Amino acid sequence: MPVIRFVREGLDVECYPGENLREVALREGIKLYGLKGTLGNCGGCGQCITCFVEIPEANPSGALTPRTPVEEQKLRRRPHGWRLACQALVQQSLVVVTRPQIGLAEKDSAVATALAQPLPAGPTEWPRQPEADLDEADQEAEEEGGTATGGEGA
Ligand code: FES
Repeated sequence: MPVIRFVREGLDVECYPGENLREVALREGIKLYGLKGTLGNCGGCGQCITCFVEIPEANPSGALTPRTPVEEQKLRRRPHGWRLACQALVQQSLVVVTRPQIGLAEKDSAVATALAQPLPAGPTEWPRQPEADLDEADQEAEEEGGTATGGEGA
């Protein structure tokens, strides 16, 4: 169900419940890091403190998993609404500002606009591709068996 609305990029991205915010952003080609993080980041271990995102207060309170102990320690001197993307799992649709340490022109109005537009419903569950593949394989096997059986009876 979750849809992440990235304000800076003007982009809505669908993901599945429980997906890691950093991984979704990187998968979608969203620039998550400033200069320091681009030059070198910890790869999502919560150690480099470069994958900042701002989560506006008007988002649903359970949109992301709660701050981890790593975040509580690393974000002590950062604004309350900031998170480390690598530590946050998406649970509900929400609005996100990437790289909050870098200025964004008219940020407040951009966030208000993003929050005012209803978030579209996204997928409600993980894809079941492996089961579908198995079903197809089963059907093919049955068809082949049916033909063979039919041939034996004739
Ligand atoms: S990627 Fe290093 S703290 Fe998130």
